[in-house]
Amino acid sequence: MKKPADKKVVLTGDRPTGALHLGHYAGSLLQRLKLQEDAEQYVLIADVQALTDHYKDPEGVRKNIDEVMLDYLAAGLTPDKTTFVLQSQVPEIAELSVYFLNLVTLARLQRNPTVKEEMRQKGYGSDVPAGFLAYPVHQAADITVFNADWVPVGEDQLPVIEQARDIVRSFNRIYGQTFTEPAALLSHVKRLPGLDGKSKMSKTLGNTIELKATPDLIKQRVTQMYTDPKKIHISDPGHLEGNVVFTYLDAFDQDKESLKDLKERYQEGKTGDVEAKKRLMGVLDGLLGPIRERRAGLERDKKTLRDILRAGTDKGRDRAREVMRRVRTALRIDYFE
Ligand code: TRP
Repeated sequence: MKKPADKKVVLTGDRPTGALHLGHYAGSLLQRLKLQEDAEQYVLIADVQALTDHYKDPEGVRKNIDEVMLDYLAAGLTPDKTTFVLQSQVPEIAELSVYFLNLVTLARLQRNPTVKEEMRQKGYGSDVPAGFLAYPVHQAADITVFNADWVPVGEDQLPVIEQARDIVRSFNRIYGQTFTEPAALLSHVKRLPGLDGKSKMSKTLGNTIELKATPDLIKQRVTQMYTDPKKIHISDPGHLEGNVVFTYLDAFDQDKESLKDLKERYQEGKTGDVEAKKRLMGVLDGLLGPIRERRAGLERDKKTLRDILRAGTDKGRDRAREVMRRVRTALRIDYFE
């Protein structure tokens, strides 16, 4: 065990906009399971950020907080190693965001490739809510209010972290050294494609497998997965490139030896989709079965869920309060302290 003083502070989070799926598992949950052993890890349920594009559906955001918490705990994150924080209940984040807004230009926000892409997907055009356009500023506050060293994210979030680093540098230069410059910790796992092989996994596109999927649903989803359209008969040579079944096997099948054998036979036209899909169904059942069981147990005890989130939020808020005290001094607004 490392001494707490040597531990890096990790801050990461998700917008509660739906239950988590296999893409989250491979891309972020596995990394968090590791980090909770080695670092002081805070996981933020970013409900304020979820409201930037779901402001018309507060009830939905509220419901999804429980969904995401259930997935975290069922996947193996535990409250004694990871601190779960509910963003809306840490008003220091909103407070800090207001001061950060002065350090960012509108032009810079409009240039952010991540935000641009999300705006395109959502079809905002120039009628983008200011809150959404400014979410990277809010996210900079998420990170710095905990004075985090590391921020594990997927590649698509890199421009947002870069923006946070810029803000930190400006703040430190203008008001004096206050924040640690946070570093992105890139997940090395390539993004899992959706079941159709065309796009990323997305709940709205219905091309995901959720962690809570029933065995029947897993079967159905694997059956519909995109494979190799050129392989019509078993004897046709098969291709692995862009073949979603094999992409998923690569990500989740632990038995690499026999997977290699299957790949060879598939490529040589000695076996077909049926064997590969059966194998994937088995692998996913093995992975998701225990998660599903733990989830069912936790679902019966919503009060414990709330208590965990409350305790984590209290702890997170204590840390945020302390950082904000220093911020107020730096900004010369520490009137009544
Ligand atoms: N923007 C992130 C996403 O959409 C979620 C998020 C909110 C986050 N606050 C964060 C990620 C702070 C890392 C750090 O996935």
